[in-house]
Order: sequence, then C-alpha cells, then structure tokens
Amino acid sequence: MSLKQIIKEAITKRAGPIGFDEFMDMALYYPGLGYYSSGVTKFGEQGDFITAPETSDLFGYCLARQCDEFINGENDILEFGAGTGILATQILFELGRLDNLPNKYYILELSAELRYRQKQTIGKVLPEIIDRVVWLDSLPSDFSGVVIANEVLDAIPAKRLICLDGNFYELVVNWDNDKFVWKVAESVFTNDKALLPNNTVNEYKTEVNYRAMAWIDSLYKSMNECLVLLIDYGMDRSEYFHPQRDEGTLRCYHKHKASDNPFANIGEQDITTSVNFSDIAHQALESGFEVAGYATQAMFLISLGIDNYLSKEDNENERIKLAQQVKQLVLPNAMGESFKVLALTKNLTTNPRGFSEQDLRHKL
Ligand SMILES: C[S@@+](CC[C@H](N)C(=O)[O-])C[C@H]1O[C@@H](n2cnc3c(N)ncnc32)[C@H](O)[C@@H]1O
Repeated sequence: MSLKQIIKEAITKRAGPIGFDEFMDMALYYPGLGYYSSGVTKFGEQGDFITAPETSDLFGYCLARQCDEFINGENDILEFGAGTGILATQILFELGRLDNLPNKYYILELSAELRYRQKQTIGKVLPEIIDRVVWLDSLPSDFSGVVIANEVLDAIPAKRLICLDGNFYELVVNWDNDKFVWKVAESVFTNDKALLPNNTVNEYKTEVNYRAMAWIDSLYKSMNECLVLLIDYGMDRSEYFHPQRDEGTLRCYHKHKASDNPFANIGEQDITTSVNFSDIAHQALESGFEVAGYATQAMFLISLGIDNYLSKEDNENERIKLAQQVKQLVLPNAMGESFKVLALTKNLTTNPRGFSEQDLRHKL
C-alpha cells in the first residue's frame, strides 16, 4: 500500500480529520515509506536540501572546538538525527587533532536507512575510531557530555493553527474528493504550554510544536551533566509571530525547490517548520535546564574561530574554496542569521565559548 493510501486510511478509520502533526509524522517517519525512513536521497546536490555540515567541514570543526571545552578526556557526545554521518566525522576528526576524543560518540537516529549510511561514512573516513561510535535506540540514562542536534527540532512534527475572529483553531488534515485538504477544527484551540500572539489578523496561520517541547523535557530527564547545542532555522517568539508571517513557517523541500504544500510528493519531500526558540527555551527552564546562550549561527562560528581555519590555510586554491564555504555558513543572506544556536546546560557552570561574541538570550 502507498503512504498516501495509509494516511488516507488513518483518516477514514477515525471517521474524521487527523492533526497536522500526525500527518507530518507519517509523511516523514512511517516505517519504510516515510521521507526519513525510506531510501530516497535527501541530502546534498542530488537530494532535496543541503545542511551546514554538508556545506563545509569547518562547521563540524568549530562544533568540535565547542565540545573540546566539555569533554576533558572522560565525557561522551550524543548526536541526534545524524544525517549522512558527516558531522560526526568532522567532530571526531577535529577532536582527534586536539587530542581530546570522547569516550563514546552516541548517535540516536530514527531512520534505519540513515543509520546504515552513517556507519558507511564514518567507517570509511575514520576506520580507526569507529569502535567509539555507538548507535542507540532510545535516550541513554545518566548521560554526561555534549548533546548535538543540528536541524532536528525543525523535523519534529508540529501542529498548525489558524486565527479566526480573534481565536486560534487547529488546522487539521481531512480526505475529501479524493485528496488531502486542510480543515478548520470545530472547537477553539486550547493550550497551556505555548504562548500565542494576541490581536492577530484574521486567517493568520502559524505552528506550535508540543512534541519538540516534550522532547526537551525527556532529554532533561536522561541527562546527568551536559551541554546541549540545538542548531536550527528559527527565531524568538516576537519574530516568529510577526504580523507579516501570516502564512506561518511550514515549508516543504523537493529537489531543492521550496513549496508550502505538504500534500504533494508524500514520502518524497521534506516537511519542516521553523523553530520557535522562545518556546524551546521556556520549556527547557521549566524542565530544569539552564539556558546558557543564544546566538546566530554566524556569531557562534565566529566565536569559535572559523576565520582562523581560513588564515591558516597555505594553499591558495584551498583557501578560496574554504572562503566560499564560510560565506555560505555566516553571511546573513545565506545561513548566517536565519540559523540560530541555543545552548542548554544541566549541572554545569562553565560558559560555552561559542557565545563569547554574541549572546541574544534577552530576546527569548
Ligand atoms: C534535516 S535532517 C538533519 C540531518 C543532520 N543533522 C544534518 O544536519 O545533516 C533531520 C534529522 O532529524 C532526525 N530526527 C527527527 N526527530 C528525531 C528524534 N526525535 N530523535 C532522533 N532523530 C530525529 C530525522 O530522522 C533526520 O535524520
């Protein structure tokens, strides 16, 4: 049966619409058929989008410099949703150069296909330390070290809302006339977690991500002593609910083309929503974390010395290539400002170096 058919059946079985979070969950993660669970090429030029570690090794080298402060020869690293495995190789390679490898590099990956690719990538580039890399099926208990999630929060299924006559309603997914359609839920949306904007214009659409907030809470419970780095496209609450963002932040990516139609190319396109970092930070505080820093990706990488890698490169052709990559990572009209880094800590007092040049916590 096709994924479209499976989702349609979920709606007919319930005799009513499903939440957009349920639709997104099936479209991305349905075993064997969801976008992240199937064999379709997702990352890189042949796929649908390019992430920061796919853009340049310098991204992972800078992250390694941030990990270096917290490893001290005894702690571990835990990466969520490790994509092709390239970020893990960059971090382990650079920590090896710094002579500060973690005891274990854990990867928690939902997709069996991606796990396989990660094993191939890391085994090929760093065969001598593949034994340190361990794939987990669930959150570890009593973890100490650094947790990394690059572009993971945006892939956690969100709810979609619409404002009508001053009240928010959930936008749910129905099957009608042989296709998926949006439907406004009958009752007003009640919520006790996320702050929604007041005085919103009619038909304003937006998203809330309760599953991401629940994920933060369970992360806190499984940690002993840690620094968590959440890197993603997103913004603080006032920007998230800017009156001009009236179509929300839902985006789909297929072959490097963006659209706002999650009902096309089901199982073959990425579906994402931007991260409301204020909601994540507030949930983190409620769970017990400290919020240790918030900065643009550009300033985070600059604080960790991305420019030093350029100035140390002797080969001119190589330097030109690296300069292009750095531009992609730090320029405001590329990934520099739309991507942010949020740092959370549990039982740690050191201030992470990545926020020495900029700390925007007051905006959250
Ligand atoms: C856009 S990809 C990012 C991949 C990679 N981090 C990179 O930067 O290239 C999103 C990844 O997040 C993973 N993911 C989503 N929710 C997750 C969760 N709760 N636990 C672990 N991985 C998750 C997906 O399976 C997918 O591999």
